[in-house]
This record gives sequence, C-alpha cells and structure tokens, in this order.
Amino acid sequence: METTTIDVRQGDFNVEDVETLRKDFNWEEMKATFSWYHTGKVNMAYEAIDRHAENPNKKDQIALLYSSPKREESLTFDQLRKRSNQFANVLKKYHVNKGDRVFLFMPRSPEFYASFFGILKVGAVAGPLFEAFMEQAVRDRLEDSQASMLITTPELLERVPVDELPDLEKIVLVGATGVDVSNYIDFDHEMEGASESFDIEWVDLEDGMVMHYTSGSTGKPKGVYHVHHAMIQHYATGKWVLDLTEDDVYWCTADPGWVTGTSYGIFAPWLNGVTNVIRGGRYSPESWYETLAKYDVTVWYTAPTALRKLMSAGKDIAKQYDLSKVRHILSVGEPLNPEVITWALDAYDRRIHDTWWMTETGAMLIVNLPCMEIRPGSMGKPIPGVEASIIDDDGNELPPYQMGNLAVKEGWPSMMRAIWKRPEKYNSYFINGWYVSGDSAYMDEDGYFWFQGRLDDVINTSGERVGPFEVESKLIEHHAVSEAGVIGKPDAERGEIIKAFITLNPGYEKDDALLEEIRQYVKTGLSAHAAPREIEITDTIPKTRSGKIMRRLLKSWELGLPTGDTSTLEE
Ligand code: WTA
Repeated sequence: METTTIDVRQGDFNVEDVETLRKDFNWEEMKATFSWYHTGKVNMAYEAIDRHAENPNKKDQIALLYSSPKREESLTFDQLRKRSNQFANVLKKYHVNKGDRVFLFMPRSPEFYASFFGILKVGAVAGPLFEAFMEQAVRDRLEDSQASMLITTPELLERVPVDELPDLEKIVLVGATGVDVSNYIDFDHEMEGASESFDIEWVDLEDGMVMHYTSGSTGKPKGVYHVHHAMIQHYATGKWVLDLTEDDVYWCTADPGWVTGTSYGIFAPWLNGVTNVIRGGRYSPESWYETLAKYDVTVWYTAPTALRKLMSAGKDIAKQYDLSKVRHILSVGEPLNPEVITWALDAYDRRIHDTWWMTETGAMLIVNLPCMEIRPGSMGKPIPGVEASIIDDDGNELPPYQMGNLAVKEGWPSMMRAIWKRPEKYNSYFINGWYVSGDSAYMDEDGYFWFQGRLDDVINTSGERVGPFEVESKLIEHHAVSEAGVIGKPDAERGEIIKAFITLNPGYEKDDALLEEIRQYVKTGLSAHAAPREIEITDTIPKTRSGKIMRRLLKSWELGLPTGDTSTLEE
C-alpha cells in the first residue's frame, strides 16, 4: 500500500525512538512521573478530573462536550469536578463505602459521567451496563456482582427485577420528573442539596475501580475486575497511541458499557487533559460526520463495524462534511479489513490505525503507533513495556509465520486483577507466565501481529462479544424450543452474525411466525445484539458424549467445511 502524503503528526517519537524505548522501557520509571508515586495513594477521579480543575490554566477548558439529538451541554474540568463531588456526597449520605459495587444502567449523559467519577471518589467500584440490556442480562450482572446500588432512569428501571435482587439496597433515579420516587433516591433532588466539596477517598493502586462483564464460550458472563493501577497504561497509551495532546478534541464512539468506552472513552482522554466529545443517540453516517465536523474533532477512536457501515454509505457523504481537522483515526474490537484502510485513505485522506486488546487486558497492547508503517490487515506491534508472542498449547514460543495462541507476558499495569468470585477462571488464562488471549494469530519477521480468529466459540458481532451459552440458555426457555446451539456466521458488514440451530418440542411445526417470535423472545429477554439473525430448525443438535454442544461442527455444516475430528460425538 502506498503511504499517505498528508502531513500527519508522527506522535511523540519516530520509529527509531520507539525501538529504543521498546528495549529500555519499564513501567516503574513511568510510574515515578506521577505525583502520587511517593505516597502510593491514588484516585483515578483525581488524576483524570480534579488535577486539571486545580490548574488555573486548565480548569475552564471544556472537559465533556455532550451532544445528542435532544440535548447539548458542555462541562469544564472544574464543573465536572464539582458535579462528581456532589454525587460523591450523595453516595456517602446513603452509606456507599470503599469497595462497594455501584452499577450504572443509563444512556450516556453528563449525569452518567458525574455519577461515574462520584463512585470512584468514594473508592467504590463502578459497573457500567449497556442500556440495550434486557431483564436477564441486567439480573445476571447485578446478582453476580452483588451490587448494592444502581443508578438508572425510570424507563430502564422496568427491566430491573428489583424484588429478586436482595443485595441491591438502593436505586438512584436520574430524570425522574413526574415519577413517584418515594421508594428511590432522586438524583436531581439530591444533587441540588449536595455540597460541591468532597474529600476524595485515597485508595491503593491495587484497589478496585471498574468492573466489566464480558462473555466467554461457557457459562454466564464474567465480571472482569480492574484497579486504579491501570491509569499508568491508560495515560501512556492515550499519549503514545491516540497521540493526545492537551489541545485535542477527541471522540471515542464506544459506549461505556464496553471497556473501550471507559478505558478510552473516559480514562485515557481525561488523564491526558483533552476535550472529550460524548455523543448520545443513534448512529447514522450523517450524524457521525456531523459530530466530527461540528466539534472539530482531531482524534477519532472507533470500530471496524462502524467504518464498514460508513464505507457502504459511500464516499460522497463523507465529502459533504469538513473533516479536515481529523488528524488521527484508530480502530478496535474486530479485524480491521484492509479494504477499509484503503477506502479511508481515499475518502478521508487518512490512514486508520488498528489497535488490539481485550476487556481482560484493560488497555491497548498491540497497536499501530502514529509513526509506524501500517501493514493493512495487521494489528501492529506491542507497545513499549509489553511483550507479546505466539505460543503453542504448552506455552512454548513459536517462530514467525507459525499460527498459534496470541499471548502476552504477565506484568502490564492495566491487566485485570480478578474474575469476580471465580479465581479458577482467572487462573485458567495463564500458561508459564503468559496470558493467553484466546485469539489465534501469527507474527511476521518484523514483529507485526496478524489476527486469524478466535480459538473458542465466542462470537464477535458488530464488535460486541457474545457468549453462545447465554443465547442458547435464553432460547431453550422458549416453550417451543427443545435444544439450541449457537454460532457466529461470517458477515461482510457485522463481522459475524448470530445463527441459532434449534430443535422444536413435540407439537410445534416450522413456521416463520414462530421463528420470529423466538427471535423476539431473545431480543426482549436478553438484548438486541444477542438475538439470532438466523434461526434454523434441525432434527438434532450435535453433542459430545459428555453433553457439550459441538458448535464447531455446527459451524462446519453451516460453512460447508470438512467436519474434522468427530470422535467425541455422541451416538
Ligand atoms: C477481538 C475489548 C482483531 C479479539 C477492546 C479479542 C480484535 C476480542 C481486535 C476482545 C483487532 C479486538 N483485530 N480482533 N484489532 N481488537 N479484537 O473484550 O478477538 O470486547 O479477543 O474488546 O475482540 O473483545 P472485547
């Protein structure tokens, strides 16, 4: 691919510097640059917000630039500090303490961000949930985390089975005008009376900060637990990879229900003191381009699925907007197709920088730094301070071009510290000091990593990680469904779509209305992104003799591939 001719900032270092940095870098030295280094007592909320609010030259800079079809509002660092202090006081009033889990189930809004930092300021652990979640998804997460408080809106409260969650003692309602709030804590009312000063709870680096539920191939979603220590890497990758400088206007399109929406929608930008654009409302090519143009966005972090949609909407739409301020574009979440990179070079005159990481890793690990040569289809190289490799199943490193497990040497700051209440699950990620990602990949002779696929049955649909088990469990709750097996089926725009194979209970016949009813059942019970786009009725679901669904076999059938080893298939 030809390299671009436009003048892009090369970031803080050039290629040679990076290679030197890769050799010499250690996280301890970077840690020593933080003001808390000597006390070891920290708080992310202070580093991201209050620190800037205490700086006379920074305090009136816009921190949060919120825009949705119904509302537009901005908050300076000073205002965000005060609002989050107020909410921290509300939390104290209701006896929320250090280590408590406080979940947020609401759309992106200024109230969301004030609440989020309020939670961190009292030392509690924040658990943001996608607003698209339906009852089952909400229940699973609140039950497992034993959250004592939930912050939500009157509309979303309908999906919270309050009476069945004994640990959930308190509910805060945001925007409860005209609603009977006698059983709840009214956000607006409490905020009005709350003081704008608050003494932050200083915590240890290893104290809990945020929890994200994510899916594996078996079992219910698991709570990935992150600590304040992660800030070192959020700050570093914000600077090196997003290339943020204090004058930037930055937009991360991800929802905070997903780890990208916290690590890079909240922490990295504000640790680096930039103006952060938060957009509510639905996606459309026009509204996205308008957001970029209207706010003079300079750095844009998004996902392949969105870029593919923009690509199918066409270059002409892009050309109607002034996108000249956008100097740096990045992507995460799924393989970034080479054709998208080529298209963007034409449509935006910009290269797209792929980044690879996972909910579990807390921050970027393999990236394309601004100064690096981009090899379309490759995720890039490890950041300084991170050692990645391809290993076999016994933990031995493999030579270039050999496909295997993408693995990372333990010891980067933003690594998850636990899978909530499941230590054995946490331990299962490691072999010989390597964190094993579950992705397969290979490395070329220059150290670029190339993604090949998932090694387990996890589905990645439009960048959302969906566990087949959750969908299967919901499907068999439907009265017509006897058994279900769920796979990801390749799709040009969404990466994968969810396809379900089901067997019917006696007395039910195949008919389109029934299939649509079953689909809706998953959609309204679990969430829209978990609902199968395709459902096929079969006579049997292939299982191993121990009763495990052989999703791999279903996938081979679907794709017309050889079925491989079927020795464990039941009779
Ligand atoms: C996939 C949190 C290819 C991968 C950010 C990983 C990617 C999973 C890339 C994590 C990329 C993420 N290229 N695949 N650049 N980035 N993935 O935890 O399979 O929701 O294991 O993402 O997404 O998903 P998660």
